[in-house]
Amino acid sequence: MQTILKNTEDPSSIREASRILKEGGLVAFPTETVYGLGGNALDPSASARIYAAKGRPSDNPLIVHIAETSALEELAEEIPEKAHQLAEAFWPGPLTIILYKKKIVPDATTGGLSTVAIRMPSHPAALALIRESGVYIAAPSANKSGRPSPTTAQHVKEDLDGRIDMILDGGPVGIGIESTIVDLTEEVPMILRPGFITREMLSAVIGPVELDPTLAGITESENAPLCPTGNGAASPAGPQDLQHPKAPGMRYTHYAPKGELTIVSDRTTPERVTPAVKKCLQHLIREALDQGMITGIMTTGENAADYDIFKDDPHFRLILLGDTDNGQTVASHLYRALRECDDRGCERIYSENFRRDAFGSAIMNRMVKAAGHRIIYC
Ligand code: TXA
Ligand code: MG
Repeated sequence: MQTILKNTEDPSSIREASRILKEGGLVAFPTETVYGLGGNALDPSASARIYAAKGRPSDNPLIVHIAETSALEELAEEIPEKAHQLAEAFWPGPLTIILYKKKIVPDATTGGLSTVAIRMPSHPAALALIRESGVYIAAPSANKSGRPSPTTAQHVKEDLDGRIDMILDGGPVGIGIESTIVDLTEEVPMILRPGFITREMLSAVIGPVELDPTLAGITESENAPLCPTGNGAASPAGPQDLQHPKAPGMRYTHYAPKGELTIVSDRTTPERVTPAVKKCLQHLIREALDQGMITGIMTTGENAADYDIFKDDPHFRLILLGDTDNGQTVASHLYRALRECDDRGCERIYSENFRRDAFGSAIMNRMVKAAGHRIIYC
């Protein structure tokens, strides 16, 4: 299959993409979070094609993207007042709401669940596509399953060229990590996936909001080794692997770069990259380079100079992520940086920890998953 690539500034692009969607084809398109791989959400064969193109297990449900709040009534049953309040406050935007589904939504789209995930994206190209095509668009992130989510059209092309009908290029996305998912079928609304819309922001609108208990432990592992370990040993699988998160997609290993990624954090001051963290990282990098490993460090512009001591080693790779104090810049570079680790042949990757306040916890959630829960504490 030949994949058409068009820029969203090309006036014919949305029209052509809409035609493809109406005919049951697949179009990757930009959203404010990450690029999505879209198909007609009410057409089971389009959903089946999405799973096949991504190589995704078909029990992992898709998010249905809408452009008008009135679509809620068409897709969902028993819509609580809180859904309307959240829609009013955060849509269009990076929030996905889980509700009981109506029959019109096929099991192929919801992975057989009785609930459906719904979101109204704010990216103008995404809204234009939903409106012009007249279809509700089922769209997971437009990466091959297991790869980091795409934040540029080029990333989509790397993963899905020849497997889908069209890619709409709208430039790099703004936020860089996937939407917050909140489940309104629980007695107390529950966050199943953290994102740009934080628990505090949700609570301010609808009162108490819980976190899926499997997320609470995601950044901590009691058995994590201390630095320096001498052999860079990884902590054993974290608590998330022992319990079942409610969003099926949170169960799978995600975003893992090919090289072994380990995060170093200060147990007493996890919100900062302390001198102890830097010392530990320098120790681990030296050790890996001495073993002849191609070794990357994920760090920010402010801290990059701390690794200048390695810059003449041909096996050393500096992977930059944005500014330490600006979570938004770290998020928007995160998936690009994980892909860069692969592109530059990293066999070992070490990363500084990032802030865990509010949006920071969503970033660390993705980082810790990418690292397969390998955290070293100092
Ligand atoms: O920002 C986003 O949400 C992006 C853009 C393209 O909109 N989409 C996205 O889709 O991240 P995906 O498929 O990569 O992740 C969807 C997540 C998965 O973890 C899936 O298990 C969960 O949402 N999910 C979908 N429907 C669900 C449901 N009915 N109940 C629980 N979890 C659900
Ligand atoms: Mg995804």
